[in-house]
Amino acid sequence: MIDTHSHILAELDDGARDFSESLAFMETAASQGVETIFVTPHACDGVFNCIKDQILDACLNLAMALKENGCKTRVLPGAEIRVNHDLVAEYDKGSLLTLNNAGTHLLIELPAMFMTPAISRVIRQLKDRGVTPIIAHAERNPMIMTTPGIVTEFVYQGAVIQITAGSLLGDFGKFSKKAARDLVSMDQVFCLGSDIHPGRKYRMADAKKCLIKLAGRSKAFAIINENPSAILEDLGFSDTKLFMKKAY
Ligand SMILES: [Fe+2]
Repeated sequence: MIDTHSHILAELDDGARDFSESLAFMETAASQGVETIFVTPHACDGVFNCIKDQILDACLNLAMALKENGCKTRVLPGAEIRVNHDLVAEYDKGSLLTLNNAGTHLLIELPAMFMTPAISRVIRQLKDRGVTPIIAHAERNPMIMTTPGIVTEFVYQGAVIQITAGSLLGDFGKFSKKAARDLVSMDQVFCLGSDIHPGRKYRMADAKKCLIKLAGRSKAFAIINENPSAILEDLGFSDTKLFMKKAY
């Protein structure tokens, strides 16, 4: 499995409180069969603004410690970037960290309230730059929670959708649970993230079982492994619909 969203790096945001907690999260992930985790501290969200070099350094430190400890799960760098009016300008300045610093996928978090055309414009601007936006925990956004169909416009514009593992199990309430499951049944979900923070359960293994029940093995495998593998391998598909086609 590939976990595409986590707050495992210590002391950068509201994630792991110290290095030992980072290592404990990683052990849990390994025990649940997760091979790769993207570490994605908050950036540009008005409270936390982790900068690119800080994240890269912290990720490298953690990777080295994991190697020493013989942990089989690897970490790759990233960030969870709140969409604001500066996002594209910041990207152009080179200050935003794409997943694995590869320049192909950017994990973005939508504001609680948004105008659909404004978000579509940001998606198109990123796509024009060769970057596919991954919309973090779409099912927990209040507007998408109420109307999951909104995401079809964003997917049409070239974004892909991520949901949180725990949402499928009801960890964030019945509305996000329903929205997460609706998005799965609408074939709109590209990948899964734990969004692990202190005080939350790590739910990748439970979510895998749930996805298999809801959508069957083939789609579950696409969401937990095949689609995000394509991010890792940078297979050169500039059009996200190719990813979706491959997966479904
Ligand atoms: Fe997050």
